[in-house]
Amino acid sequence: MNAKDLEGLTAIVTGSAQGLGLGIARELASRGAAVVVADLQLDKAEAECEKMRAVGWAATAAELNITDSAAVNAFFAGFDRLDILVNNAGTGQQVAPISELPDAEWHRVMDATLTGAFYCCRAAAEIMERQESGSIVNISSINGQNPAALVAAYNVAKAGVISLTRTLALELAAYGVRVNAVCPGPVYTDFNKRNMAQRCETLGIGEEEMIERIRSAIPLGRWGEPEDIARGVAFLCSPQAEWVTGEIMRVSGGMEGVSATPPKRPRK
Ligand SMILES: NC(=O)c1ccc[n+]([C@@H]2O[C@H](COP(=O)([O-])OP(=O)(O)OC[C@H]3O[C@@H](n4cnc5c(N)ncnc54)[C@H](O)[C@@H]3O)[C@@H](O)[C@H]2O)c1
Repeated sequence: MNAKDLEGLTAIVTGSAQGLGLGIARELASRGAAVVVADLQLDKAEAECEKMRAVGWAATAAELNITDSAAVNAFFAGFDRLDILVNNAGTGQQVAPISELPDAEWHRVMDATLTGAFYCCRAAAEIMERQESGSIVNISSINGQNPAALVAAYNVAKAGVISLTRTLALELAAYGVRVNAVCPGPVYTDFNKRNMAQRCETLGIGEEEMIERIRSAIPLGRWGEPEDIARGVAFLCSPQAEWVTGEIMRVSGGMEGVSATPPKRPRK
């Protein structure tokens, strides 16, 4: 692998002030891309960009809410050229069975996890079609392929991200633009910690036990790190993947999903 195989390319990574997005932004920047860290949390994004610039990488921070269609269009209009877009921003769901899932929670998760990715894909597609080059990587989840109980809105949104990816790959192929998705397995980020805490409560077990249960269900025997996901994303963005499009790549230590069924709930 060429350590600077993304030299000269401009990349936007959404939701990259922390967690997997930050790992992805750092990997792309370390390989020579000029990275835009676009997130709701501008202060955090700026602090992370400063750290990247301090080691000689190119990184700038931008405030972006991917659920705001007009704001997304205005943001992308600021780019004459765009080589890489990673749609990473997304949100977890309050753990609840479908029979108790409120409208507002369904829409909140759909907006931030699927519709926002659509807005960003649409805006980037316009630029990439015009320049007849570019690569988009959408972050789905193993839940998008194999749904876990109690997070239906999230599962459906991530399955939607897979369909969005495959549709856009077909539509942009004639322009030489590639569109792929990565399905991460468990990584202990803020997002995952919140989800685990809720699941522990429902199952009446402690955090340590839950961490171990998940670990032992991962064929490669450990939780993921943001760098694991970032390397998969960087491969799909790089010239090494020039004949790869419409691909849905699991980066999960071999884990395909969580299929545990929750017990009956007490009658109200
Ligand atoms: N952590 C995991 O185990 C895991 C597994 C599979 C998939 N994923 C997916 O990876 C992505 C990143 O997850 P994470 O674990 O790093 O989460 P995280 O909560 O740690 O980070 C998410 C980032 O996205 C930003 N964000 C949220 N809503 C936004 C919006 N509307 N506009 C712009 N930025 C927004 C947040 O400010 C935050 O910086 C998500 O799409 C998530 O669904 C995570």
